[in-house]
Amino acid sequence: MLKVENLNQYYGGSHILRGLSFTAEPGKVTTLLGRNGVGKTTLLKCLMGLVPAQSGSIRFGEADITRAASYVRVQAGIGYVPQGREIFPRLSVEENLLMGLATQSGRTPIPPRIFEMFPVLKQMLGRRGGDLSGGQQQQLAIGRALAMGPKLLILDEPTEGIQPSIIKDIERAIRALAETGEMAILLVEQYYDFARSLADHYLVMERGEIIREGKGSEMEADGVRALLSV
Ligand SMILES: Nc1ncnc2c1ncn2[C@@H]1O[C@H](COP(=O)(O)OP(=O)(O)OP(=O)(O)O)[C@@H](O)[C@H]1O
Ligand SMILES: [Mg+2]
Repeated sequence: MLKVENLNQYYGGSHILRGLSFTAEPGKVTTLLGRNGVGKTTLLKCLMGLVPAQSGSIRFGEADITRAASYVRVQAGIGYVPQGREIFPRLSVEENLLMGLATQSGRTPIPPRIFEMFPVLKQMLGRRGGDLSGGQQQQLAIGRALAMGPKLLILDEPTEGIQPSIIKDIERAIRALAETGEMAILLVEQYYDFARSLADHYLVMERGEIIREGKGSEMEADGVRALLSV
């Protein structure tokens, strides 16, 4: 589904992504762990075309999207939930969800599954996004990314700054999405227990490189927790 090979990216003279390679498979949660500043968000921005890759390749299904524009990647079926959520605070919940459908033609309705997954969004349809709690905004950002039925869902630290009860809801939602088999999920996380609970496959990043990977069920035995503590 997603295949990244030997990806390199620089900010000015700093080499941020250093020959990164990995894959993410449909129906599976691939979890990328790593400490602050190792380049996780930069990698996701590269996957979305928000920062250019210097070299290497990104394949999505049959297509080489290494140089594709962001909207082309979204149209091809990549849903992105950015770090810090980045919902539109002045637009209503409904309008935020409709923005997720902006690449679809005509009057595509908001898929009911989003409201089944996050009922609070239905209750708050007319509220301004900015008036929601952090956890509700995160659910909205995930709902927005799901609106166009992605084949790859990318989430950047969805638990950051979120209250525990909503973390549980988000965990259940991600598991349910993976179990449909309809999409590959690439989850960036620093919250170890959440990552461990969801990972089918894990990747550990350090200074722009994947330094370890394996089955989610073996994270504990592989000593991943120790790699993340400072
Ligand atoms: N726009 C930018 N210009 C220059 N350097 C940047 C830019 N954005 C990030 N960096 C640097 O690139 C490195 C990787 O940052 P990135 O945000 O990808 O890390 P991260 O792993 O997502 O961290 P966190 O866990 O804190 O979100 C850091 O050293 C950061 O300071
Ligand atoms: Mg980040």
